Amino acid sequence: MSFWPNREHWSVQIPLHTSHRRLDVLEPTGVVELAPMPVEVPASEWETLEYMDWKSGGDTNFAPLASADGELDCRGFWDKGKTDKDALWTVNAERTPTIRAYVDAVGANFGRVRIIKLEPQDRETAIRSIHRDDNNRFNPDDEGWVVRSWVELTDNPDSYMLLMDNDADGLPDPTTERRVPLHRGARFVVDTQRLWHVVVHNGTAPRYALITSFESGPALESWIHANRHPAHV
Ligand SMILES: [Fe+2]
Repeated sequence: MSFWPNREHWSVQIPLHTSHRRLDVLEPTGVVELAPMPVEVPASEWETLEYMDWKSGGDTNFAPLASADGELDCRGFWDKGKTDKDALWTVNAERTPTIRAYVDAVGANFGRVRIIKLEPQDRETAIRSIHRDDNNRFNPDDEGWVVRSWVELTDNPDSYMLLMDNDADGLPDPTTERRVPLHRGARFVVDTQRLWHVVVHNGTAPRYALITSFESGPALESWIHANRHPAHV
């Protein structure tokens, strides 16, 4: 019998409905695909970084580019009593000028900025790690809902981010499954506190991606509209 989350899964306890400001563009499905990455990110910006052992969504390692206090730390901001916003660049960002400029240019308040390194995992293995994120702990109710954006750095067209919305019991609903392909330069924004998610990585080498937390608000909204995938406008 393959693994499937039940009501005891820790993700079920993470708030789903709150009064935070959300973006209309994410309301229908919780995900929006963007046009391919418009700038070339040199491989040195992810290959020369030091990765820290931090397991999330499989056999993963992370290189923090921006963190709660600018230290090289993978922990949630809440360990420092801070919501996942107002991040400070770490020393790693000195080696990633293209990525730093890209994130700054969005113009939205950002939290954690990290490169994820994910070892290959087939679908059955990946499902064991399907989860929802706790992106909005300590986030005041009258501020913007924190969501996440991805930029795929390596080319893995046979891999995909598996997304599922919730059923009536707050468990992943297979009828809502979506697969976002992870070719190089693929970009998307996901409400990862709402959607269950995990990456199925069918490659033979690690997959690298940029993950950034952004606060929902006018700046993020106009950036998404300016960058939406042509097929989804
Ligand atoms: Fe996650």
